[in-house]
Amino acid sequence: MKIGFLGAGNVTGTIGRHLINAGHTIVVSNSRGPETSADFVADLGPGATAGTKQQAAECEVVILAAHWVKVPEALKGIDWRGRILVDATNAHMDPVPDISLAGVTRSRTALKSKGRTSSEMVAEMAVGARLVKSISNMPMAWIQDFSPNKPRAVIFTSGDDTEAKKLIIELINSTGLVAVDLGSLAVGGAMHEVGAPLSGIELHFVRRLR
Ligand SMILES: NC(=O)c1ccc[n+]([C@@H]2O[C@H](COP(=O)([O-])OP(=O)(O)OC[C@H]3O[C@@H](n4cnc5c(N)ncnc54)[C@H](OP(=O)(O)O)[C@@H]3O)[C@@H](O)[C@H]2O)c1
Repeated sequence: MKIGFLGAGNVTGTIGRHLINAGHTIVVSNSRGPETSADFVADLGPGATAGTKQQAAECEVVILAAHWVKVPEALKGIDWRGRILVDATNAHMDPVPDISLAGVTRSRTALKSKGRTSSEMVAEMAVGARLVKSISNMPMAWIQDFSPNKPRAVIFTSGDDTEAKKLIIELINSTGLVAVDLGSLAVGGAMHEVGAPLSGIELHFVRRLR
């Protein structure tokens, strides 16, 4: 599968490498143009190319991997109708994310005061997108073992579009990480967004009773 990224940082480097190792290809974009991502994609190897935001958005799956304060600008100018968009963001309210407990609590309180989850807010900005929240529940440093026998880290996933969510679950599972479906953006999203009970904990999948 071909996956586009809005953002060319830590999340893109980590998830991009897992995807490439699983045989997928990625298109990486940022706010400054493809030429500024040359070293970044060279480091990821032949499975990665640098593109414009539009080129990233034209991939089968698009992963939003910019900071919360940049999200409106990152989503702007793209017709999201029908596109599968993965919200990998954490809604830190600070320009430079404060990931201390106090900072996370502040972000969570601000979200609660708005009465909806951060991914519901992203869905409102990306009108018509088939939005899935995923990849955001743990620091990337915890999933940077790229070997075939890496721990099967649990990646929580939620979304209202069942088909889009199923595709993202299969995509994540193809990398050797394990996607666990928590339900809708409103219910599941509230469990794994920043500061929620299932955010910031490392879980490894062992087995499932069929
Ligand atoms: N790092 C983690 O461990 C981790 C884990 C889970 C979730 N997250 C969340 O994932 C998101 C990304 O985090 P990160 O650590 O990957 O950040 P990062 O390393 O700082 O990368 C952010 C990227 O976004 C790009 N960007 C900024 N404005 C943009 C725009 N308008 N359009 C497209 N791209 C834009 C930046 O490039 P330019 O400035 O050059 O445009 C940069 O490449 C954040 O919301 C974070 O909370 C991070």
